[in-house]
Amino acid sequence: MHSQFLNFRKPVAHFSAAAASSVLHTWTALGRAGKMALHCLLATVASGVLAAETATLSVQFDKPGARINSAMWGVFFEDINFGADGGLYAELVKNRSFEFPDPYMGWRILAPPNTVSIDTSRPASSAQPNFIQVPVGATLLNEGFRGIGVRKGETYVFSVDARARGRRPALRIELINTNGHSLGTARIRGIGRDWKRHTAQLRASATQPHARLAVIVEGSGSVDLDMISLFPRNTWKNRPGGLRADMVQMLADLEPGFLRFPGGCIVEGRYLTNRYQWKNTVGHIAERVPIINRWNDEFARRGRGAADYYQSFGLGFFEYFQLAEDIGAEPMPILNCGMACQFNSSELVPLNELDPYIQDALDLIEFANGPASTRWGALRAKMGHPEPFHMKLLGIGNEQWGPQYIERYGRFAEVLKAKHPEVQLIAAAGPDPAGERFNFLWGKLRELKADIVDEHFYRPPDWFFSNAYRYDDYDRLGPEVFAGEYASHTRERASNLEAALSEAAVMTGFERNADVVRMAAYAPLFAHVDAWQWRPDLIYVDNLNVLATPSYHVQKLFSRNRGDMVLPIKSSTAREERFYASATRDMTTDEVILKVVNATTNAVDAMVEINGADMVATGKLTLLTSSRLTDENTFAHPEKVAPVEDKLDVFSPTFSHSFPPRSVSVLRIPARVTQQ
Ligand code: AHR
Repeated sequence: MHSQFLNFRKPVAHFSAAAASSVLHTWTALGRAGKMALHCLLATVASGVLAAETATLSVQFDKPGARINSAMWGVFFEDINFGADGGLYAELVKNRSFEFPDPYMGWRILAPPNTVSIDTSRPASSAQPNFIQVPVGATLLNEGFRGIGVRKGETYVFSVDARARGRRPALRIELINTNGHSLGTARIRGIGRDWKRHTAQLRASATQPHARLAVIVEGSGSVDLDMISLFPRNTWKNRPGGLRADMVQMLADLEPGFLRFPGGCIVEGRYLTNRYQWKNTVGHIAERVPIINRWNDEFARRGRGAADYYQSFGLGFFEYFQLAEDIGAEPMPILNCGMACQFNSSELVPLNELDPYIQDALDLIEFANGPASTRWGALRAKMGHPEPFHMKLLGIGNEQWGPQYIERYGRFAEVLKAKHPEVQLIAAAGPDPAGERFNFLWGKLRELKADIVDEHFYRPPDWFFSNAYRYDDYDRLGPEVFAGEYASHTRERASNLEAALSEAAVMTGFERNADVVRMAAYAPLFAHVDAWQWRPDLIYVDNLNVLATPSYHVQKLFSRNRGDMVLPIKSSTAREERFYASATRDMTTDEVILKVVNATTNAVDAMVEINGADMVATGKLTLLTSSRLTDENTFAHPEKVAPVEDKLDVFSPTFSHSFPPRSVSVLRIPARVTQQ
């Protein structure tokens, strides 16, 4: 018996203890019209005034419907908005290996003219051949990713590949604040004539979000330098060269069921040459050749260009699988299907040249799941993970459309299904949630008996509100739905309460239809406040802090209050009324979980019926609300729109509850059926 049931009470009504049992008997005997009338009366008694809005929410506790996928609520990570380089990947030095097309990008060189050069002779890494040759007396300054964030008292690990040209060069490393003052220093000596990795640690004497790194060459002679790197020592799980701990914590706190990666349009590339190729992102860090990030100039004409945006792949496919494992999420890699972005070049790989792309998929499965005796399994083991990553999902393409996609998807599916029936494939439904392309793809994917179809919707709040019932009439016999990318776009593209409420409304629809909607993820996940290309986003970061948006809180509320079974629920309100609800049952804790979105400007006083339960107990209420739809969280006021938890006194399976205006409420109520 769970301890919460020690609190169980036999049904009594809290509005009038004396009349409790008779009212409850009457309640069970009343018809629907009678219940509504009584409900109005109860609301009046409870509030003393006639409530502005009333409703009945009727949950069928004893008739659970579909089982909910335990991995239903997940996250989608793409390197957009400086999400990886400059974000989750904790490297603080930009262009550390001088491989950007402008090899000096991110660096300022203080040295006499023509004394510093980029060289490629006998490099430290043949994959990244550029290095810098610097004379004694010169200073290299790196600006980081919109500055370097350092925290007082924390340790930073500097490392560099170095080779002496003269007799005794040495390096002084400094963290410098915006006024040019040192925040910490370290020295590297003993640089020999052969390439060698040197490390040093610096402790920051002050907190500074926009520090710079200085590398000063001292001693005599000159020095060749490559892979100049600085990481906080405090990374996620303290892994050297790892991920930003506070950003991963934000993901872990969501308890995501899956982690989709790496895109998004990044998978496709503007051209096939710069598509995402997973094999270029694994193995030794020095072998991972940086490429231009496709978001570098995508929105340049809208003033959101980022000429310094490249992908170092320091967060590559190994780190991705490891991250998914760390946060308990199922990996969901997405691969290029032989098509470049159809909003850009629309380049196509001819069908008779598709085999290497399909082979990449087979090899990825081997890298994730194969024994260490296989080629790719051996690489995974060498990188530190002999055990498989248990990948069971794989996306073929991102936002592709047209017959070209169906042809290519078909080729992938034929081979992958034959060789790896244990891996479920995710097919694309294009960039829009309706229309000709969408209908064409769905028709074909149904014929092909696709496992899962990925729908994307970036739409205004009104669309979200009116699509809360979208899946009620979906075909139950066809492929399952993955709502793989969605976000409510207000006119200002604000991450505000209105956006969050409208997303929550649609999410009640996902949940009520969990038999067809198998998984869902908001997009994009992260954005650097000084370097974003796309908004709104779920989590904003600067160089030192993270910020949860109202949408983040909604995602967290749904994910952490998932439940195992859908419970049928009926609301007396009309669909247009912007009052939405879903219910689930947690089979482990024996709770009803009720999620209610009141997107109106009035409180809705509801009579909640937990039909079929004859014992309930004190539960928990989590409420997300704020006074204006336009309210947002900011770094100055991060908790303006944040959930608040409270005890929920429930004394009867039928009880009244007032849902505040502009709110998402999650009610967790221990409930039982004792008389079957
Ligand atoms: O989430 C941002 C972008 O939106 C994704 O890369 C793409 O799939 C969609 O168009």
